[in-house]
Amino acid sequence: MQDHPLRTQLPAGTLVRRLWSTDRDAVVTLFRGLDPDSRFDRFMGAVSEARAAAYASHAVAAKGLIFGAFTDGILRGVGELRPAGATAEAEIAFAVAPGHRGRGLGAALGARLAQAARNGGTRRLHLRCLPGNRGMRALAQRLGAELRSGGREVHAVLALSPPTLFSLWREGVEGLFDVAAAASAACSATWPIVPVV
Ligand SMILES: CC(C)(COP(=O)(O)OP(=O)(O)OC[C@H]1O[C@@H](n2cnc3c(N)ncnc32)[C@H](O)[C@@H]1OP(=O)(O)O)[C@@H](O)C(=O)NCCC(=O)NCCS
Repeated sequence: MQDHPLRTQLPAGTLVRRLWSTDRDAVVTLFRGLDPDSRFDRFMGAVSEARAAAYASHAVAAKGLIFGAFTDGILRGVGELRPAGATAEAEIAFAVAPGHRGRGLGAALGARLAQAARNGGTRRLHLRCLPGNRGMRALAQRLGAELRSGGREVHAVLALSPPTLFSLWREGVEGLFDVAAAASAACSATWPIVPVV
């Protein structure tokens, strides 16, 4: 994976940043908003809204990293990076809100996940989806992954290059913006700005 090919032009008002515990409620709301088909695709099987919400409530604190795509300040997509057991291997998964798909949110989340994984020493990212999941297959291809079909799932593998000074620097700079944006969002939720009349 090189430094730039996944960077994408996002719709105006869209921000992609890392998520922390202050974003927990937004992640739960996003997963609650997934329709049954989307939940089926995300979890590769039938999962109730309550189970999806329960999963989401632990997602920010679980091992690994999670990034979010916000449009006009509302969380519309998440990308998760989870350890896969073996050293230098990790899994990624996505959920973009219906009504916000096909606008590059998944690709932008994938770019941040791949950068974070690469800089953390991961050499191979794994992604699994159902064979009929056209959106995920297209996104995996867009990310440069090699798709292997077999049985009831598609297994995509994205090979990552070792980190460079530039990739580390870039992640450091983006991380600073992430912290500032998350702190600002948490402050405005705690102390909403009231117009003075
Ligand atoms: C799969 C998913 C994450 C894609 O997110 P997205 O924000 O729509 O993806 P993007 O807009 O970044 O699109 C990436 C590429 O896929 C293509 N694509 C997206 N949805 C598509 C669809 N339904 N059919 C065909 N192509 C599609 C886009 O055109 C784009 O291709 P391009 O770069 O060549 O233009 C989203 O559909 C989703 O959340 N689905 C439900 C949960 C799920 O299936 N998760 C996957 C298992 S972990």
